[in-house]
Amino acid sequence: MNPVLLETIGLHKRFLVGKTTKGPYLHAVDDVSIRIERGESVGMVGESGCGKSTLVRLVTRLLDASEGAIVFNERDIGGIAAKQFARRPERAKIQMVFQDPTDSLNPRYTAFDCIAEPVRLLTDKNNTGEALARRVAELADSVGLPPELLSRFPHQLSGGQKARVGIARALAPEPELLILDEPTSALDVSVQAIILQLLARLRRERGLSYLFVSHDLNVVRLLCDKVVVMYLGRVIESGPAEALFTNPRHPYTKALLSAIPGATVDGAAVERIRLQGEVRSPINPSPTVCRFYGRCPQGQGERCVTAMPLLREVGPAHSVACHFD
Ligand SMILES: Nc1ncnc2c1ncn2[C@@H]1O[C@H](COP(=O)(O)OP(=O)(O)O)[C@@H](O)[C@H]1O
Ligand SMILES: [Mg+2]
Repeated sequence: MNPVLLETIGLHKRFLVGKTTKGPYLHAVDDVSIRIERGESVGMVGESGCGKSTLVRLVTRLLDASEGAIVFNERDIGGIAAKQFARRPERAKIQMVFQDPTDSLNPRYTAFDCIAEPVRLLTDKNNTGEALARRVAELADSVGLPPELLSRFPHQLSGGQKARVGIARALAPEPELLILDEPTSALDVSVQAIILQLLARLRRERGLSYLFVSHDLNVVRLLCDKVVVMYLGRVIESGPAEALFTNPRHPYTKALLSAIPGATVDGAAVERIRLQGEVRSPINPSPTVCRFYGRCPQGQGERCVTAMPLLREVGPAHSVACHFD
């Protein structure tokens, strides 16, 4: 096993949605423990609202957790207040690539400025003038951005070019972990494939670790060694990508996989599983009822409403949280 780069241990984030501190609370992230080894690419999947972005914001320390620990390079960074984190050296080591490059790039900055900003802020302060220009050119080159585009503003760039600027920006402080929150979902399908190839190459060349958030299982399958499936704030299955895609165990994972056009499991075509019923509310959810209850095509047993199914190992590094697996 490689050394662990990032680990979350029993992480919770509850948002107060009531008017007093008594609640109610929306449980956006509920007891999430994930682990990313050095050089590993971990995919996180699950439908909109399941807590993916909240988890990312906890790990990048934009948000403080309600409970639990975040360990990066053997240091507990969860205890550092979100406000303090911006000034810490770990800040440079965890970088984000955002969903929509149009929203995340400053419209008044040229591509050069966008890439130069994190170099200035997060690396050696002597990086100015020619040294800075060289560094920006190097970064642009590594993401395949032609140097003549560096003087352009975001609105003068295509979606793919903006995505490249976003990636160069994230690479600028020489991170060890890149967190990609739906990095290609705003792009045309043809451009998506090119950007995914770029990301795969950068990871190989630089020995980076990825936390790759996506609702698109095909993308995760291409790029990730390990997959974590979330449902309403909780991890319901996790394991090596190969095991998860060939032998999904949780009924929700099975449903997700069945929705991929042309999906097969063990070589046989999979019938599309259409989930019926309502998604349970994330507000003050019952601690003893499976979050998938009511929508689950499989378990409607007594145990599903009296005991929250916990993750248990069903294969090498493969865990599932279902009583009926
Ligand atoms: N600041 C907030 N205040 C209250 N609820 C929030 C806040 N941010 C996110 N949520 C809620 O937390 C849940 C998870 O959201 P999010 O992490 O954005 O999910 P995802 O990225 O998987 O779509 C959702 O129910 C969302 O409405
Ligand atoms: Mg999100």
